Amino acid sequence: MTLPIPASGGDLPTRWLVTGAGGMLARDLVSLLERQGAAVTAVSRADLDITDAGATAAVVREARPAVVVNCAAWTAVDLAESSETEALAVNGAGAGNVAAACAAAGARMVQVSTDYVFDGTARAPYSETAPTGPVSAYGRTKLAGEQAVARLLPGRSWIVRTAWLYGPHGGNFVATMLRLAAGSGEVTVVNDQHGQPTSTVTVAGLITELAAREAPAGTYHATCSGQATWFGLAREVFALAGADPARVTPIPSTSMSRPAPRPAYSVLGHDGWARAGLGAPEHWQTALHRDFPAVLAARAS
Ligand SMILES: NC(=O)c1ccc[n+]([C@@H]2O[C@H](COP(=O)([O-])OP(=O)(O)OC[C@H]3O[C@@H](n4cnc5c(N)ncnc54)[C@H](OP(=O)(O)O)[C@@H]3O)[C@@H](O)[C@H]2O)c1
Repeated sequence: MTLPIPASGGDLPTRWLVTGAGGMLARDLVSLLERQGAAVTAVSRADLDITDAGATAAVVREARPAVVVNCAAWTAVDLAESSETEALAVNGAGAGNVAAACAAAGARMVQVSTDYVFDGTARAPYSETAPTGPVSAYGRTKLAGEQAVARLLPGRSWIVRTAWLYGPHGGNFVATMLRLAAGSGEVTVVNDQHGQPTSTVTVAGLITELAAREAPAGTYHATCSGQATWFGLAREVFALAGADPARVTPIPSTSMSRPAPRPAYSVLGHDGWARAGLGAPEHWQTALHRDFPAVLAARAS
């Protein structure tokens, strides 16, 4: 199934390099860039391990990209609690290696980050400049990555925080709910975490927009607008799948025992886009209704 091409103003830089290219977001980003006519060097983990500083510098030098998007990351949130050193090597030092390589090669960089850099105690959307305070090992390592990139590539890097991602490639909550919707019986889902379900297609479009419009360096929140709980998202997916949403029942997070604490509230504000003269991200329901068929088709194939 062909994914939509989000509208982008301005001129897209021609040459791009995407790390972690086998991942869920990277696959849709590479696809979008290619459909927009960019020359993309897509390197998966087998091609480039970003914890290898020398190899990272060589790959960036040889590809001569205008923009590098670092999609490579340790994303196993629970496993990071018992493997923080290993997660930090990828999410912190690895991101720093990419930034140093970009500095040497004269490239700009997009560092993909997360809502988990916040502590989740707010009750209004976190602004791009709100104080960080990760409550999990994963969040701490991603924050270290943000800080390394900002230090090594000041004025030439975009920190792009996203959250609650789903898309046609890779395991994600929407795909899991689709599988459960196809079965029968009750499905319990937590109803006390608030965030922004976000399509990989939306994030890919926002990343290309930043570069095409030459947005100022800095931090941007690349999440869909609006907000939901996992329970609310699950019910929406069930309805879209033609299953009875009443099969989804709410439970508190305390009834699920998981190694990594999750922020209770990680809704992100979007003022950065307006400050850069760009439009606000689309609503999560708009994106979900548009991209749901692609997730469904990927599950069926
Ligand atoms: N998924 C979410 O809900 C979510 C939410 C907020 C932020 N994010 C951020 O969004 C970005 C993309 O996430 P995603 O969901 O697309 O993740 P993903 O599907 O797990 O993709 C990450 C990719 O990075 C690769 N990788 C891991 N270690 C590497 C290394 N040392 N060198 C090179 N590549 C390496 C992985 O390869 P292997 O599979 O072979 O390990 C994988 O292909 C990440 O920065 C993540 O932190 C994601």
